[in-house]
This record gives sequence, C-alpha cells and structure tokens, in this order.
Amino acid sequence: MRCIEKYPVLIAESRSSSSSEPDDMDDHNKLDAPSAPSTTTDFNQVLDARLSRRSLLKGSLAVAASSYIGAGSLWLTPAGDAQAAMGSMTLNFSAVPKSTADALQLARGYSYSVLMATGDPIAPNVPAYANDGSDAASSFTRRAGDHNDGMQYFGLGRNGLWEANNSDRGLLCVNHEAITATFLHKQGQTIVNDQRTVEDEVMKEMYAHGVSVVEVVRDGKGFKLKRDSRFNRRITTFTDMEITGPAARSPLMVTKYSLTGTRTRGTLANCANGHTPWGTYLTCEENWAGFFRRSAADDSKRSAKELAAFKRYGVAGKGKHLWASVQPDTADARFGRWHAAVTGTSADGSDDYRHVANTYGWVVEIDPFDPASTPKKRTALGRFAHEGAWPARVVAGEPLVWYMGCDSRGEYIYKYVSNAVWDPEDAKRPAYAGDKYLNDGKLYVARFKPDGSGEWLELTLGVNRIDANYAPYPFANQADVLIHARLAADAAGATKMDRPEWGAVNPRNGEVYMTLTYNPSRDLDKTDAANPRYYNDPKEGKAQKGNANGHIIRWAEKDGKASSTQFQWDVFLFAARDTADRNNVNLSALGAGNDFSSPDGLWFARSGLLWIETDDDAYTDVSNCMLLAAIPGQVGDGATKTIVNRDGDKERSVTTHVGAPATDASLRRFLVGPVDCEITGLTESPDGRTLFVNIQHPGETTNGKNFDIGNPSTWLSHWPGGGDARPRSATIVITRDDGGPIGADAA
Ligand code: FEO
Ligand code: CA
Ligand code: CA
Repeated sequence: MRCIEKYPVLIAESRSSSSSEPDDMDDHNKLDAPSAPSTTTDFNQVLDARLSRRSLLKGSLAVAASSYIGAGSLWLTPAGDAQAAMGSMTLNFSAVPKSTADALQLARGYSYSVLMATGDPIAPNVPAYANDGSDAASSFTRRAGDHNDGMQYFGLGRNGLWEANNSDRGLLCVNHEAITATFLHKQGQTIVNDQRTVEDEVMKEMYAHGVSVVEVVRDGKGFKLKRDSRFNRRITTFTDMEITGPAARSPLMVTKYSLTGTRTRGTLANCANGHTPWGTYLTCEENWAGFFRRSAADDSKRSAKELAAFKRYGVAGKGKHLWASVQPDTADARFGRWHAAVTGTSADGSDDYRHVANTYGWVVEIDPFDPASTPKKRTALGRFAHEGAWPARVVAGEPLVWYMGCDSRGEYIYKYVSNAVWDPEDAKRPAYAGDKYLNDGKLYVARFKPDGSGEWLELTLGVNRIDANYAPYPFANQADVLIHARLAADAAGATKMDRPEWGAVNPRNGEVYMTLTYNPSRDLDKTDAANPRYYNDPKEGKAQKGNANGHIIRWAEKDGKASSTQFQWDVFLFAARDTADRNNVNLSALGAGNDFSSPDGLWFARSGLLWIETDDDAYTDVSNCMLLAAIPGQVGDGATKTIVNRDGDKERSVTTHVGAPATDASLRRFLVGPVDCEITGLTESPDGRTLFVNIQHPGETTNGKNFDIGNPSTWLSHWPGGGDARPRSATIVITRDDGGPIGADAA
C-alpha cells in the first residue's frame, strides 16, 4: 500500500459506521501524517536556527562549499578512476512515455507475464481464485496474499539447498504488505458501530498479510510458479515467531502468548526486505503501529514512559481494520491480541496484550529453504517503521552491515553493524549464522552535515545522551533502547529525513543509495542540506508544498568500509516534473523520458544497474507510477549548489550537494504501471535475464465518491484481468524478447 504513517490518529478517529467500509486509510500517499514529533531538537535544526538569517547563511555557504570540496576527496574514488570502478554499460531500450492508461506499458523489445497475483493458489487442490469476494478465508493460507511488495529470488539447487547462481529454479520470497479490503470481500468490509461483525472477513484479512515463499521454475524465457512445491509456504499474522537478540526476554515483551517474552504471533505490514549472505530472507515490519487498538481510557493505567513511547510510535486509536473489535473473541485471543491496552489484572502483562505492540516493528529472518522453520524477529536491528534492511557488500574478515530506513515524515536512516566479522564458511548455512551476525551488533543512526560529510551515531545505552537522564524517555537498559530506537535516535541528534524508503548498495563501489520519497511536512524554515527543497508543485490546480516529489540521497563510507562511522554524501537525483524550475526544483535536469516523482523502491542489479520505482500521488495527473533504470555515477560527481526556496514573499537559501545531472544516457523510464498502483519490489534471476517486479494495489482507491462495488465501470483499474475483473496486485516476470540482459548491456 502507499505508505501512510500514523493512520490511527488520522483515520481511526474519523471512521464512521457503515455497512461497507471503504479501505480509506490506504488511499493517498499524500494523506500521511508526520510521526509524532520528537521532543528534541534536531542537530540540523540547531544549525538552521543559527543560520536562519539570509545574510548569515550566505556568509557561511562559501565556507560550507569549500570544506565540502576539501573534505570530499578524502576517501572517494579519484575522479579519473570513477568510470573504471563502475565498468561501463549502455541502456538497451528507448524511454517509455508517461501514461495514465489502465495498462502496463513496457519498453519496446520487452515482454511480461503475470507470475502470481492476489489470491492465486500456491498449493495443489486449491480452487482458482474467484476474485469476487467468495473465496474462503481459510484458503488464504494456501493462496498468495495481497499487496505484493519487497521480494528476493534465491537460486534453488537440485539437492533442495541454496544455489546462489541457479537461474533456472529458485525460491521467491514475496512480502504482502497490506490489503485492498473492498475487493477481498463481496461487498467490502462489514462494519456496524465501529465493530467488525463478520468474523470470516477479518480472518481473511489477517491471512492475506505476511509473506509468500514459492518455488519458481524457468519456463521458456520466463518463469512459472511450481504450485506443488514442498517449499511453498504462507507466513501470516498467525505464524508463530521467535523473538531473538538483546530485547528477547525483556519484561516489555511479555504477553499472554509468551510469558517469557520470547515469542509472538505473526508478522505484519511487510514492506521492503533484505537478505543475508547465508541465504535467508529478511522481511521488514513497517506500518504496524496503526493496527493496534488503544484508547485514551488506557492512558491512566500506563507509566509516563509508556505514554511517551506510544506517542512516539503512534500506538493509539481504534486500530486499522478494527481487528480487535470482533466479539466474542476466541480462547486464544486471535482478535483481542490487537488490543494493546491493560485489560488484565497482572502487574507484568502476562494476562493480556498490553505489550503486544513491542513485538512488532522488527526485521524478521525467514529461512525459505526450511518450510517448517520458525521466523525470527531480530531485535538487535532496532524497532521502528522498518522499510527494509539492505546488506552492504560482504567482505571476509569485516563485519556485516545492513542499512535501514524508518519510513515516516522526519524519521531517520539507520545501519546495523555485526560484532562478528564475516567468515565465508558461514555461507554454508550453519544453524547458528543468524544468531551470530544478527543478534549481536551495534545499531547506528545517520547525521548528515551541511558540508557534505556525515557521521553514524551509536545507539547504545550510555553514549550519545542515551541513558537514564534523558528526560523525554529515561532509558533503562539496551533492550529498552532497541525497542524504542526512534527515541534513542532523537537523543543522539540524528537528521530528520524526508521519509526514508528503500536503500540499495552499489555492488561496484559499495556506495549506498536511499530514496526519500517526499515530505509535505518539510517546512521552509526546516530545510537543510540533505533535505533542501521546499516548493510548490501544483497538481490539477491544488497546491502541493514542501518536498513534493522526493529525492535520492547517497553516501560513500569512509575508506570504503561499510562499518565506518563517517561518510561523504550527495543527492543522486532530485525528482521533479520535467517542466519545473531547473535552478531550484528540477535540480537533476530531468527531461520527458526520465522525469518522475516519489521514488520508493530502489534496487541494484548484479551488473551495477540501478532500478528506481515510484509510489506517487503528486505527478499522477500526468503519469501512473513507473520504473526507471539508471546508470549511477558516484558521490561527488556533481557540484555544490545553493538553491532558493520560496513561499509567497518568504524565501530561504540552502546549500546542497547535487550529483551529476541526469541525461538520456544515464536515466530512462522502463515501465509505467496501471492506474492507481505503485511499483514496488524487484529481484532478478542471477543471470540478469529475468526481472521480477511487483505491481501493488492497482485501483485501490475505493472510497472515491463515484465508487460502487456493484458497478465495475466505477473502479479505477481492472488490471491485470481486464474486462470487468476486480484489480489485483501481482508479481510480473519481465524478459527481453531476444533473451538478453534486462535494462543495460555491457559496453
Ligand atoms: Fe511500505 Fe514505505 O513503503
Ligand atoms: Ca511509499
Ligand atoms: Ca515502500
């Protein structure tokens, strides 16, 4: 779904009773609300405050600019070696024009097929998906879930083990982030007085979230699903999960389900993903907070610390989809477990689900090669709105590193560094690998400085103001720090970013890219070097202010070591309409064949080609969401630039660091999706000749004033079925008609 932060605040309270509740909280990228603001002042805000007067700012800009140039070359690839480091490749397709048609448009010379759409059977003897709301709820334990999102292909060898380079047979792990509830049921959700009255509907929704693991086998140039594979598995909101790492066994994890604080049921809001060098999948829990019910009546039963934590994470309201409202509940509390309030009489929460929200918000490791394995929530990587977890380049004898974004307005970029250094023997999948590398390490958060340098701030009890004296949230121990990583990052003084979505690591040089999708809450006065733009991008006559289109930041770690605590950054691309002001808005000089808005998914092919996916609502007057291919340069290949942000007669100059301008040779639109979808999730066969892409939630806007579930002509999309079919999310397989590599050829 389009990432909507904090819907309990915005949505739950505005819900009205109706017999057919539209899936309204999923609708618009633009409806999201900021995270509950931290009570601290951001490092950059301090700087901004000091520099807010234009004359002062102007004076300091020259200093900032010169120090950037001076410092910038310290550990970056020397300019002359840049091309050699990147190798050379050429985009092998012509740009696809922008489109608002309800069709998937692909570059000429390429074709696609649908591999797995919402509800498709992933086991034998499951009926074909009726797609009219009549499919049995329980059948979703053997059907693909909804809203396909992050995914990863793992080569599967003949012995049933991981074979990383197998391009003929693989296991595909696919996240199912959310649902378009209206189309899952015959007539949408049944809600009477804020209560879900049809238990079966709620069961179907709870099963339609999670992850699918499916075997895929080569079929001509493309792939097909092996429906009877023993590896096929659905992981849902019911799957038993182990809580591992430093926050396991914390009193804050105790629920009626696990008196020891070591288990929880289910995973949820599985947005983007990651993987490990021992062949396991990482699924990441993003907008989980809004699913929990917790009313103001609970406040008097909670400590000041608990209230601060609930506020910072947005655990409040009636709960998305009102899952906790089903009555009567079952003995195992399958509905009541979504109620994060004190309902029992115990002192420690062992008789209710007051702590249940602490068991969500994690990176979850799944072993796709063992269908009976218990997924593990890895608490060392911190708890926030995890977009994904992207591995740095793996180097023998060096720590393993994963980069992570917290997708909410003004949230942070994190990284995790293992304490153990990588032993290539561990690629043989010893049972202890996950515990060794993912349970024991350090969590950091990023601070971006105006001069183009940056530092990673450690989130450990006793450093960076993270201790019992931190007034907004006195930390008790390291489990408390990890469960409340956002608050620890506030204490440390991290930089508030314009909604971090996906990250990706350039396999050629180790540089890290991360999308900052857009941020309408970026105030003119709060622009900073790393989040520099404030402007108006009107759509159909309506103002869209702030950072309306987003950007892609990138950084190079000092000395090329992913575990370094210092880096150098610039902005790879600023998204914009091609017609926008090139001095202050369209800073990357985007043209008709490569302009885009709201970058979200980001993914490097093995070749070093970078794919950019959009989840947009700002530029959809001109085009549906899209997929672009980029041949990236490197940090520092552009220039330091001062831009002027304006709102009426207010203006503010900001100096930023812009990568080299895009050209038709470096960035091209490859695909445009159907109406009202987002393009998200990417993976490839190891030979680079098959690209898997997810088309999420076409036609998900079902609360428009003309929408009528009984009248297909009022639906925004019918993709992929066409005709009068209900729209479905789907994983597609893209191949080149001549069987060649996707997107770019080696030059
Ligand atoms: Fe689920 Fe931030 O995308
Ligand atoms: Ca998004
Ligand atoms: Ca996303």
